[in-house]
Amino acid sequence: MPEPRPNSRLPGFYRLSLDERQAELARQVGLSTDDLALFASGGMTAHEASGVVENAVAVYALPLGLGLNFLINGVDRLIPMAVEEPSVIAAASNAARMVRAGGGFAAEADPSLMTSQIELRDVADAQRTTAAVLEARSEIMALADQALPRLCQRGGGCRDLEVRALPDRRLVVHLYIDCLEAMGANMVNTVAEAVAERLAELASARVGLRILSNLCDRRLVRVSCEVPFSALKNEKAESHNSADSDDGALAREIEAASRFAEDDVYRAATHNKGIMNGVDPVVIATGNDWRGVEAGAHAFAARDGRYRPLSTWRAEGNALVGRLTMPMALGTVGGTLQVHAGARLALRILGNPSARELAQIIGSVGLAQNLAALKALAGEGIQRGHMALHRRATGTTG
Ligand code: MEV
Repeated sequence: MPEPRPNSRLPGFYRLSLDERQAELARQVGLSTDDLALFASGGMTAHEASGVVENAVAVYALPLGLGLNFLINGVDRLIPMAVEEPSVIAAASNAARMVRAGGGFAAEADPSLMTSQIELRDVADAQRTTAAVLEARSEIMALADQALPRLCQRGGGCRDLEVRALPDRRLVVHLYIDCLEAMGANMVNTVAEAVAERLAELASARVGLRILSNLCDRRLVRVSCEVPFSALKNEKAESHNSADSDDGALAREIEAASRFAEDDVYRAATHNKGIMNGVDPVVIATGNDWRGVEAGAHAFAARDGRYRPLSTWRAEGNALVGRLTMPMALGTVGGTLQVHAGARLALRILGNPSARELAQIIGSVGLAQNLAALKALAGEGIQRGHMALHRRATGTTG
């Protein structure tokens, strides 16, 4: 029986009791009582954990909530978010509701191309060696494919080869591997080790490091959204200045906040932290490597020598337009997913997306989170809503 298509517009969800929220989730996604019990217990036992890491003694829990209102490429998605910071999930859901009024998020993701790096040392003549490696391109790419027969059977494999020169008589060979549904770290490391000796022979050089690069700049996600000025208006809070005295004023304040990040590296770091507030919780909930996604995001942000925001916002016509581009290396098979039933359930809640769809979803959550932060900063300030939730979470009133 096909699983029900969830509706991510669930007004009043936050007012339900925990039991009622769990029942609604089960109804939306078609979870059994057993699924729900497993999910509610964290999705992994200490016994299972001891098969995953060394010296295991326990599992460590995080709150898991649902991001609501997400419409991505015309599909409604309920978003599982594992995060300890109060207000993140509410803010993402709120921003997604505003974006929904403008037709939702439009997202596209590159094929799952991971970069395998092979460093060659003591290269006598960089130019000549580069030419020799490029001439042997088909041979090297075939060697790479031979190292990953099952991936190639499924339609993946080596797609490109590139040579880069570094100072001190070093060359770096990049192989770009389409890892399909896998994040691919193990695959590209296998490839790097499989082709290194032959490359060193061709280059009359010594083999250096053989490892993936987390700056996977051929595995990007691009997301955009348009929020009509009318959807952006504050419903309850009055502005701290006259910013929303006309419909476009708040949008222009958000554009100014974006330009601040575009011009200032200190602000860009915080702007991007706001994006990662949305990205990481979904990466974690779906059993993916958030350190890899973080490393890729920040290296990409600094790719032209200056650290920049991963997203920009502009008031255009009658709408605020947001655009985000960032690397997103994710898997929907293998790795943690093999041992973490909770992560597998999180993917089910998301509608079992492909790896590229998951990248589109997570990029959209990042852009939503960023919009929520900028809207608060440009309007009432972050402390009011944020701190109220903090007080609720910690039971303090001061
Ligand atoms: C807080 O976790 C994140 C923000 O600082 C992001 C931002 O300033 O854009 C609110």
